[in-house]
Amino acid sequence: MPTTSNLVGKRAVLGVTGSIACYKAVDIASKLTQLGVEVDVILTRAATQFVTPLTFQSVTGRRAYRDEDLWGDEGHVLHIGIAKAANLLIVAPATANTLAKLANGIADNLLSLTAVANTAPLLVAPAMDGGMYEHPATQDNLAKLEAQGAHIVGPASGHLASGLKGVGRMEEPALLVGWARYWLGRGGPLQGRRLVVSAGGTQEAIDPVRVIANRSSGKQGYAIAQTALDLGADVTLVSGPTALAAPVGAEVVQVTSADEMLAAVLAAAKGADALIMAAAVADFKPAQASGQKIKRAKGAPTIELSANPDILQAVAAMKGRPAVLVGFAAESQDLLANAAKKLKDKDLDLLVANDISAKDAGFEVDTNRVVILARDGSQAELPLMSKAEVAAALLERVDKLLESK
Ligand code: PMT
Repeated sequence: MPTTSNLVGKRAVLGVTGSIACYKAVDIASKLTQLGVEVDVILTRAATQFVTPLTFQSVTGRRAYRDEDLWGDEGHVLHIGIAKAANLLIVAPATANTLAKLANGIADNLLSLTAVANTAPLLVAPAMDGGMYEHPATQDNLAKLEAQGAHIVGPASGHLASGLKGVGRMEEPALLVGWARYWLGRGGPLQGRRLVVSAGGTQEAIDPVRVIANRSSGKQGYAIAQTALDLGADVTLVSGPTALAAPVGAEVVQVTSADEMLAAVLAAAKGADALIMAAAVADFKPAQASGQKIKRAKGAPTIELSANPDILQAVAAMKGRPAVLVGFAAESQDLLANAAKKLKDKDLDLLVANDISAKDAGFEVDTNRVVILARDGSQAELPLMSKAEVAAALLERVDKLLESK
């Protein structure tokens, strides 16, 4: 199963207008193409001063259009054909001039004609100098576009091409691709479902400096959250400390300790359809965290531990628990026996067992090798695959279980 199967074959039109940020649009086209999205690029005449259609064709493998094509072989229906096939129209970068056209229905080039014919969601990433952005006409046009249902992302603040600093930079491609994924995912098989996903490890304080932690990077949980968004779900991600960027469109709750994760998961699980606990929650914490840094001079301390609450068990016992509960188990021995015991003890619908004895599975790496155990006793052993592919395989099963309830 492709990692983001719901995105594969979706059609995005990327309108590129005359700003130095055109070079970033190439990255957007490339990243969306790598996700399996078919990207039709339309360049305005000004955009072709900065970058060529060939640049986009080279990364999308598809024809990139410019104004002259409107009067070419495909004649008057070109903009209608492009717009009708679109699942999303992205205008990035969007200059003050193109914003004015989009807001007011002016249709005098291939991109603005396509925009008027478009009925798919519209994502706009403004890019211009600070003064142009602050101009009342630009602000009016942005407000108008928003009122018409467009999704405006940015602009960001920072260094501008004029050499000035201020608000006007186009947002970074990663954020724009995140929002494109979000809008392309809507209407997917998990549309209308609310999923809670936990990710990363918890940290338990020993003193103000030191913690008990574990090796979880959050990669597996974040991949599940992103794939669920791609499939159309509403996602709450409860995350321990990690270096990863939050999936765009998820509601992210940052926590540090197991106690904080328990409170956040219990709150988010109310009314949710499924809970997927990929987090590596510390089983034990220092019974008493020291208020002051423990001094080396006093010799090695003995740290007494106490048990942390079991989050999955607390959710399983709650009134109106989510219809589907999924646990993970990272095991270094007796994988299946330990996993089957956790499935039963925690009253779960699915348990994903990862064998962490191999270097290419489990903590920190980008791949995983798992067996998915179900409440009905069935087991599916999956080969080594990316964590995004594990997420897709798992969510396919979660979707089926939700459908059957
Ligand atoms: O984050 P990565 O680097 O990508 O690594 C991914 C992972 C290895 C952390 C992940 O795939 C994984 O296996 N997570 C579970 C880790 C684990 O061993 O959990 P456990 O066996 O301690 O707990 C079993 C289940 O109960 C887990 O779903 C856990 O979230 C949950 N649990 C555990 C303790 C606790 N106090 N409350 C819980 O709910």
